[in-house]
Amino acid sequence: MNTTVRHSLGQYDVEVTGLRVVLDGLGDDDMIVTDDHVRAAVNLERDCFSIKPGELSKCLAVYGEVMDWLAQRASRSSRVVALGGGVVGDLAGFAAATFMRGVRLLQVPTSLMAMVDSSVGGKVGIDLAAGKNLAGAFWPPEKVQVPIDALGTLPSRHFTNGAAEVWKYAAIMDPALFDRLSSKPLALSDPNPAETVMRCIELKRVVVEGDEHETTGGRATLNFGHTVGHAIEQSMGYQGILHGEAVAIGMVAESLLGERLGLTDKQTTERIRGGLQSQGLPIKLPEGLDSRNLLEPMRRDKKADRNGLAFSLVSEIGTCKLLRGVAESDVLSALEKL
Ligand SMILES: NC(=O)c1ccc[n+]([C@@H]2O[C@H](COP(=O)([O-])OP(=O)(O)OC[C@H]3O[C@@H](n4cnc5c(N)ncnc54)[C@H](O)[C@@H]3O)[C@@H](O)[C@H]2O)c1
Ligand SMILES: [Zn+2]
Repeated sequence: MNTTVRHSLGQYDVEVTGLRVVLDGLGDDDMIVTDDHVRAAVNLERDCFSIKPGELSKCLAVYGEVMDWLAQRASRSSRVVALGGGVVGDLAGFAAATFMRGVRLLQVPTSLMAMVDSSVGGKVGIDLAAGKNLAGAFWPPEKVQVPIDALGTLPSRHFTNGAAEVWKYAAIMDPALFDRLSSKPLALSDPNPAETVMRCIELKRVVVEGDEHETTGGRATLNFGHTVGHAIEQSMGYQGILHGEAVAIGMVAESLLGERLGLTDKQTTERIRGGLQSQGLPIKLPEGLDSRNLLEPMRRDKKADRNGLAFSLVSEIGTCKLLRGVAESDVLSALEKL
């Protein structure tokens, strides 16, 4: 099962395969960056750089360590292999983009989030003290190999977390997928998760090919649920909530906002809310979080401009629209209805 993503410098294949195939295919030029959970889960015995799992490792200090490690053994012809979730993909990808002004990158996403989202599209980067993903690059991989069997060891909370992005793709682009998920939420035990993963990659491919460097607004449509979701994550200091969980709450909030603005009908919100709930995702603001505190981070959202906030909103399941100049009072009213 594969597809090809085209970009300004060339193209790369995304292939859904198995862990053994990926690991057996690696050679001496491959510099593996992973994290301690993944390293244990895949029983990796080769030389590698293994980071402490979690977002805190996507930082300048660990980036520096990866670069020093590369400097001791890699050359211009080496290839960085990002074997892990989105944290490893972004960090190792940024190292690949900058080591000796750029070396080849193989993305091997092992979390559902990384499979359906972060490994495709070429965005790599790290967090700075001032904010998430503030240092980064567009650095397309040479190839993406998705080891679908790696999902077998992914903790269920992280599986559900990745499923939020699958629901997002369905809500904004694929009514048939939305129907399928509504009748049976995504499960670790699905006989063929590869098909759903590949469908999401295909949907992301279409969007990123149309807006490779985030200049036309196309990629911004992938942000459904994310304006509110990012604000929730930020106001909680990225503690106690995962990205997909925050985005799930955000999708319900933004659907309510769409209703308020006359774009989304009530039934669509209900379908989104019911679906996310059946997947085991949160649909309400976490206890103790004041909706007014979400405004400040939303003002700093990269889609916002001097005319107001901006949202990717679902008009009906499978169709979305980027709406600019949204008033804060409308957003607050929607958040209060959550
Ligand atoms: N570049 C992009 O376009 C893009 C898009 C979406 C998200 N991201 C980034 O991705 C990151 C989140 O990714 P994530 O949710 O994968 O987080 P993550 O990389 O922290 O992985 C989640 C957890 O699952 C573990 N894990 C991963 N695969 C496993 C496996 N097969 N078996 C056992 N454990 C496994 C990890 O060790 C970690 O503890 C964020 O930093 C986010 O900014 C980037
Ligand atoms: Zn996301």
